[in-house]
Order: sequence, then structure tokens, then C-alpha cells
Amino acid sequence: MSDRVKEVVEAIVGGVRQALTDKKVTQDEYRAAVMYLKETAENGELPLMIDVFFNITIVENENAAHSGTRSDLQGPYYLPDAPFVDGEIKTMEEFEGKPVLVRGTLTDTSGNPVGDAILDIWQSTPDGKYSGIHDDIPVDYYRGKVRTAADGSYSVRTTEPVPYQIPAHGKTGALLRAMGSHTWRPAHIHFKVSKEGYHPITMQAYFEGGEYVNDDCCSGKCNEGQNVFAEKYEDGVRVMDVDIVMDTAAAQAAA
Ligand code: BEZ
Ligand code: FE
Repeated sequence: MSDRVKEVVEAIVGGVRQALTDKKVTQDEYRAAVMYLKETAENGELPLMIDVFFNITIVENENAAHSGTRSDLQGPYYLPDAPFVDGEIKTMEEFEGKPVLVRGTLTDTSGNPVGDAILDIWQSTPDGKYSGIHDDIPVDYYRGKVRTAADGSYSVRTTEPVPYQIPAHGKTGALLRAMGSHTWRPAHIHFKVSKEGYHPITMQAYFEGGEYVNDDCCSGKCNEGQNVFAEKYEDGVRVMDVDIVMDTAAAQAAA
């Protein structure tokens, strides 16, 4: 562990020093950046800022190392203790969110069903907030875990999330704007998929044609088009067929 910490931290320090050298950063600029980071941390935005700029690189590492469904950003709003739900994620009636049925089958890379796996799902409210994080929305809303059946299938009802702004008025938003960027993410549903013996997947499902799908403030173009779902309705309800493929842990270790 400590060898790993040394190796990674030395590489990060080396990379940052090189950038400071290349850009001939002055004492004043350096001091201003230190103060900016101090204020970002004091405002509780350091995890957000780090995720906006660096989570995508970890995703790329994951995708280079294993096959199966592509990984995607986790972001700072995952909470591990979401309740198991019985086919329906709790949503708030006052929002009158558009219903959506998320369903699919979990298989391994050979096409065999993966039963008894856990899908841990989280998403925004129809006004772009996360429960347990923003506006006192109770933590058991807009989050839930489901298990796959023996044939690998699962299904869960929820409401459509919307594109949302990562906090626009804090230090992260100000930095993005100063760089000529913006603070929007496309509408998406997050998943963490796990089962012993398989490489866990952190992923997202997006809505085809949705705003910012090709202009995400965190990652540019979302996931090279994978996990972007076309509009499809059954009995007036939007359906997303999110089939998921898991790599075995052994395949991962051998890679
Ligand atoms: C999110 O999808 O929740 C997210 C990801 C990265 C930064 C901020 C939010
Ligand atoms: Fe999100």
C-alpha cells in the first residue's frame, strides 16, 4: 500500500511540477491558486472540483483494463447506504416527474446470466438535485438497490432525471466559466453494479438527443455513445433497456 501511495503521489507531484515549469507560473499566481483551493475546501467543494476534472481519467483507466459495459463517472453524490427497493425507486409526487422504467439483463462476457447481483442506482430529482445532498430531500428518495433475478433480469420504475448544473455559483463553477466552459451535465441515471467474482462497474445511462450529451462539463462527449438510450415507450411510459455486461474479476486480474 505505502509503495503504491509513494509511486502515485510522486507521479502526481512530478506532473504538477512539470506543468508549473512549462507555464512559468509566478509566485503570485501560485499563491492565488493555493488560496483558491483553500476556499474551495472550506466551502466543501473539493470533492466536486476533483471529480469535474479527474474522475474521467479514472474511468478511462477502468475502460482500458476491462471489457464489458463501459465505466463512467461516479461523481461526488453517491451514498452507499441506499435502501433495497421492490421494483420502484421512491420519488416525490409534488414534482410530477415523467415515469421511466429501467430494465435489462446482466450477463458475463460469455453471455451467461449473472443472477443475485446488486444494482445500486442513484439519480437527480426532476429539478436537478440529489437526495441526502441538496435541499433536505430525504436520503431514501431517488436512490435504491435492486437484485438481479436468476436469469440476470432486473427492472425498476423511477422518474426521468433532468440535465443539471453542478453548483454554478461556487469555486468550481467560477473556475469552469473562467476557462470558457459551463457547468451543465446531461440527464443521466447512475448505477453501481456488483457481484462477488466480477469486476464492479460504475456507469451511467443517458437519454439520446438530450441536452449536453455531447457537451458534458465533466467529460465532453458522454461515453462515446455507449449507454445513450433512444426514446422508446410502452403504455405511455418511457422504457430504457439497460443491458449490462460484467467482466470476471479473474479476467481483470490477468489483464
Ligand atoms: C454527477 O454525475 O453526479 C457528477 C459527476 C461529476 C461531477 C459532479 C457531479
Ligand atoms: Fe449525477
